[in-house]
Amino acid sequence: MTPVMIDGKDVAAQVRASLQREIDELKSNGVTPGLAVVLVGDDPASQVYVGSKVKACAELGIYSQKWALPASTTQEELVQLIHQLNADDRIHGILVQSPPPAHIDEEAVILNIDPRKDVDGFHPVNVAKLVLEDEEGFVPCTPLGCMELLKAYGIETAGKHAVVIGRSMIVGKPMANLLVAKNANATVTIAHSRTRDLPALCRTADIIVAAVGRPEMVTSDYVKEGAVVLDVGINRIADESRPRGYRIVGDVDFDAVKDKCSYITPVPGGVGPMTIAMLMANTVKACRQLTAR
Ligand code: GUN
Repeated sequence: MTPVMIDGKDVAAQVRASLQREIDELKSNGVTPGLAVVLVGDDPASQVYVGSKVKACAELGIYSQKWALPASTTQEELVQLIHQLNADDRIHGILVQSPPPAHIDEEAVILNIDPRKDVDGFHPVNVAKLVLEDEEGFVPCTPLGCMELLKAYGIETAGKHAVVIGRSMIVGKPMANLLVAKNANATVTIAHSRTRDLPALCRTADIIVAAVGRPEMVTSDYVKEGAVVLDVGINRIADESRPRGYRIVGDVDFDAVKDKCSYITPVPGGVGPMTIAMLMANTVKACRQLTAR
């Protein structure tokens, strides 16, 4: 089977174009959406992500603040900044890049973010709203982007068996909740490191979402003919032939799997570009909800 390559860059561009119209309209009414991005420490991948988020804001005319704090920042200092941002009327979205340094209790920090500004959807109030299917809540950007890709390609989820590999709060769990919700109606299995015979389970899947962070783990014997495969992985693996000394691979062994799939996302260029587009969408949504009369 020749698979359809899901083009995340293209869908992300469509999302941004539609957001641009919304942002222009908000601005013509005197409202500018604003996002604060907080980075603690000097993790190189996080620095790249944070830079991309701020750049995406600039391109759309979203006001942004970038807070790059030293690795020595204390929990108290970080929480104090969050409270300052909660009170700042120019800021509608607050994001603390994950993972923070080990001495920071990430969950405790997130609890301090005003849930109405939690554009990552990590606050327990937003986790609850996702489970309750309350559309006012915020959903983590990567799984939201996956759903947008399925929609953009007209991929039916109702009645389908989706296997989500990975149970993180950033991707796996929210992805499973989105797929099982009444507007998607999939039958969902969440698999993880203790799942027995993962390849056999995955072979029963109509849709596989790989979100484990293990390079090229999903091989041909995981995939049934005609399955849809969404690869959330972004793994750096050493490659001396590349100028940077590494290359990026997904959680799926793309070359081994692609000819079995009806649709597949490449890495890079699949799910990745959607994450920031959905962050922009969540920021505009927060702005609308916070400024509505
Ligand atoms: N680290 C990896 N993905 C994300 C994300 O979506 N949001 C934040 N804040 N940190 C991340």
